[in-house]
Amino acid sequence: MDTSDRLVEILLSAKAPISGEEMGRTLGLSRTAVWKAVRRLRDLGYEVNAVPRKGYLLQTIPDRLYSVVLRRNLKCRRLAAEIEYFETIDSTNREAKKSAAAGAKDGLLVIAEEQTHGRGRLDRTWTSPKGANLLFSLVCRPPIPPQRVFRLNMVASVSIAEAVESLTPLTPEIKWPNDIYIGRRKLAGLLTEFSAGPDSLDYAVVGIGLNVNFDPKNHPEISDTATSVYAETGRRWSRVELLAGILGRMDVWYDKLLAGEDGNLASEWNRRSLVLGREVEIRSFDDVLRGTAETIDESGALILTDENGSQVRVTCGDVSLRLA
Ligand code: ATP
Ligand code: BTN
Repeated sequence: MDTSDRLVEILLSAKAPISGEEMGRTLGLSRTAVWKAVRRLRDLGYEVNAVPRKGYLLQTIPDRLYSVVLRRNLKCRRLAAEIEYFETIDSTNREAKKSAAAGAKDGLLVIAEEQTHGRGRLDRTWTSPKGANLLFSLVCRPPIPPQRVFRLNMVASVSIAEAVESLTPLTPEIKWPNDIYIGRRKLAGLLTEFSAGPDSLDYAVVGIGLNVNFDPKNHPEISDTATSVYAETGRRWSRVELLAGILGRMDVWYDKLLAGEDGNLASEWNRRSLVLGREVEIRSFDDVLRGTAETIDESGALILTDENGSQVRVTCGDVSLRLA
């Protein structure tokens, strides 16, 4: 933890104004150094009041996903022990892959306020104005075969739905294979990428973009297809609380996955599935398959009844699903 983070910790824990002298004692700094550190906090957007003859009082914290603030809200055993925070980055997935390739530990969290090259599947652009939404990626190193990596996508999808359900009045649905919807509009997207040998996963990066406070109306290219928690409820929401909520649920599911106790993951997905029982079209590079979506199996494959009444198993690969 650097001096700024330690200072924030002290100010957040203080119930009353705290003197520069006392802060200096705790931090091992002179009063001038404390004063400079307070000035740095103000530059970061913390509102720190100087109360005459009493000391400093933290009035408001900025609407940023600073790790020191996030940590106070986190209830995780495995995930987010380490956090990389960026104001701007090309893509949290790219950054997480770089860190993973360089040996980052299981559970590393990469967060950004803004991405210059945020990407969805098939290299589609992910739009998100600075500071409005959640953009994050987790490095996971579960000892599972590469064929089971979609399980992590399931962990993330179910966790996002659970957190949004418990913290907001919304009831999200999961659209196979990688989106969270409210009604006919997309609230969140997931992009899981991985590196593996033939038998075992080296690492997976689970990337999540959740629209929290942005107004899709200001983004014509997605205004008809995207939504946000703000657009659905008419008010702004705490991104820190939502992120902590999602990570808390992911931590529980990840623990179960590692212990082989994640048997009800598919049923938790199916109960929130947007597509089950509906007519769908699956488009791949050179083919279109039509049918009725029946269920998601344990591995996350979609089971369809096709136009001839035969059951077909579709793995996510490079396919797109459209409601017919
Ligand atoms: P499918 O997953 O079925 O192939 P999709 O339209 O959901 O179709 P994805 O690759 O999963 O495609 O997601 C990327 C798409 O999401 C982009 O092409 C864009 O239309 C849309 N998009 C980009 N930014 C956002 C956002 N913030 N919220 C919702 N949708 C977005
Ligand atoms: C999709 O719907 O296709 C998936 C979108 C995934 C977007 C998130 S935002 C954080 C992470 N970084 C990226 O570049 N992509 C994912």
